[in-house]
Amino acid sequence: MKTMKMLSACLLLLPFISCTQVQDTENDAVIEQKIETLLSRMTLEEKIGQMNQISSYGNIEDMSGLIKKGEVGSILNEVDPVRVNALQRVAMEESRLGIPLLMARDVIHGFKTIFPIPLGQAASFNPQVAEDGARVAAVEASAAGIRWTFAPMIDVARDPRWGRMAEGCGEDTYLTSVMGAAMVKGFQGDSLNHPTSIAACPKHFVGYGAAEGGRDYNSTFIPERRLRNVYLPPFEAAAKAGAATFMTSFNDNDGAPSTGNTFILKDVLRGEWGFDGIVVSDWASVAEMIAHGFAADSKEAAMKAVNAGVDMEMVSYTFVKELPGLIKEGKVKKSAIDDAVRNILRIKFRLGLFDNPYVDEKWIEELYAPSHLEAAKQAAVESAILLKNEKETLPLQSSVKTVAVVGPMANAPYDQLGTWIFDGDKTKTVTPLKAIKELVGDKVQVIYEPGLTYSRDKNMVGVAKAAAAAARADVILAFVGEEAILSGEAHCLADLNLQGAQSELIAALAKTGKPVVTVVMAGRPLTIGKEVELSSAVLYSFHPGTMGGPALADLLWGKAVPSGKTPVTFPKMVGQIPVYYAHNSSGRPATRNEVLLNDIPLEAGQTSLGCTSFYMDAGFDPLYSFGYGLSYTTFKYDNVKLSSANLKKEDVLTVTFDLENTGKYEGTEVAQLYVQDKFASVTRPVRELKRFARVTLKPGEKKNVSFELPISELAFWNIDMVKTVEAGDFALWVAPDSQSGEEVFFKVVD
Ligand code: BGC
Repeated sequence: MKTMKMLSACLLLLPFISCTQVQDTENDAVIEQKIETLLSRMTLEEKIGQMNQISSYGNIEDMSGLIKKGEVGSILNEVDPVRVNALQRVAMEESRLGIPLLMARDVIHGFKTIFPIPLGQAASFNPQVAEDGARVAAVEASAAGIRWTFAPMIDVARDPRWGRMAEGCGEDTYLTSVMGAAMVKGFQGDSLNHPTSIAACPKHFVGYGAAEGGRDYNSTFIPERRLRNVYLPPFEAAAKAGAATFMTSFNDNDGAPSTGNTFILKDVLRGEWGFDGIVVSDWASVAEMIAHGFAADSKEAAMKAVNAGVDMEMVSYTFVKELPGLIKEGKVKKSAIDDAVRNILRIKFRLGLFDNPYVDEKWIEELYAPSHLEAAKQAAVESAILLKNEKETLPLQSSVKTVAVVGPMANAPYDQLGTWIFDGDKTKTVTPLKAIKELVGDKVQVIYEPGLTYSRDKNMVGVAKAAAAAARADVILAFVGEEAILSGEAHCLADLNLQGAQSELIAALAKTGKPVVTVVMAGRPLTIGKEVELSSAVLYSFHPGTMGGPALADLLWGKAVPSGKTPVTFPKMVGQIPVYYAHNSSGRPATRNEVLLNDIPLEAGQTSLGCTSFYMDAGFDPLYSFGYGLSYTTFKYDNVKLSSANLKKEDVLTVTFDLENTGKYEGTEVAQLYVQDKFASVTRPVRELKRFARVTLKPGEKKNVSFELPISELAFWNIDMVKTVEAGDFALWVAPDSQSGEEVFFKVVD
């Protein structure tokens, strides 16, 4: 009772304080002892049952039968606390050994209070945003009885055709590592055994974001060096942050599906990183090894998965069906089963489930707490990226007396939540239209004429109507983008232009001669070059969640100042993809003085255009490169100094610089530190992000900022497949984005 009271008090204050633990953290040795004792009492069937995860199918009676027999270790997709408790009671009281169930759910960017999609959170370059978002999600989800989420998704993704780019942190290895680790911390809290902590599950291990052609579930071809230098580090950071579980990915890399890949699951994850938690397959990815042509039948699929190191099978039931036979035949060792069960029980013990298996059914009142909504709004503010602001169109001034609010995303409470919001409630969403009306009251007249009712709408009559109405306004606010369903799992696109007649809508609005402020809400970077040209200002807000409306209204009227930066490169056109800033140095790099298609003389000679790496129709540069974003104010970087120009491998480099706010508004700049290893045993990226910092400055204020960079962080997997720092020349930039800044040099000596 006392515990309950204390918890409720904590919940009211969460997520911003951590509570006294309700039970002492049992040390690992005690847990290991308990695992061994329990294991020694388990039958083979009960062990295999722990390795089986089912999706709730509604009928408690049917599920209870399986649970009683000890045939289920975990259930996903059950979010009613009363039903969670009922199922848990069967496991605790009616199964032979009383092993609690692990209840799981995809809580990706919020349970009820929806935060910006992870790609948006990444645009904040603020790990605190990611941690707070995950903490709020954990508090709310655990109130429903969920103790395991399948997040964070930390697949480095460099192809916006891939719909799942929305769920991750973008194209950069370092940014993804930092944000992913912060999410793990937020989900898991200070200790897993706190009732508001939920086990994190970094996914999808590994390489899934490199799907060929950006088509979901497609093969990848990532050689080991690139795997280790680009795709594995975010997972290593998540493991270091204490992630309790990992999920295998659907893709086959160079022919090996992850769910049957011993190298990544055993050699790297357990061997090199010492991971001791649960490896769960993705949804049916064990059985899908048959469709991959990697296993002839469910028996071979189960064998390959367990022998590769998968502990728990999500929904495809091959383990329960096939493992007894496989053990009899000696194709799977009993010790492999014991190891898997140890991993599963370890996490159940660490979560405190044996002692506190039930959820307090009244905790559900904590959903949508004011502090949660406030944190979601702040996240949406920090996630928005100002891409253009001609003649200081933004922020809107008091001289603006009439605004036209136009476009299919202005009042789309479901769609602004984005992908993966199983539990989000659109009736709680505050849309831009609602928020703008609340913010301006009767000081500004708001004309609302959406023109199009949803993003794929092609209704030109609506477009004409909206343009006519908008012509009466001082400023036009056009909310365009993508419906939630156009991004996320299996929602890939080959064309990244605005859907439906949205482009025509922007063109018609521009024709009125009034300034058009375009606000894009989408799950990926879209090819919006044309619309940017026609707009006076552009704000990009990856689906911003429940509180997207108030965040955008504040930004438009200058109650908040944009500070987001692109977490991924925006291509000019799809044909440029993959286009990302940290590409390797080419022997013939683009000069940026290329002759483009329309300038080529007739019958030009073969080499007359120069021989460098670019497209004749798109040039080399993207629309916006990684790390780009404007503010209402301006910043000046100056006086970059290094602690030394000659460093040893064990040294820490200190980089200091002056950052000055040279504009009229208080603002926050995301200062970025990039490094290039000039010459190495393998070609290296032209730049790599190594540090970033959000710095807030008043108008006219100047701060001396410093970054500390241990030289050991310049290590990479070299020609001998050894992770090492190679001595030699390095370049460094302190910059507002990945393309600017003055180059400074230093050397690393042996
Ligand atoms: C997705 C995972 C997700 C799982 C469970 C799969 O289809 O790839 O990311 O966690 O389903 O819902």
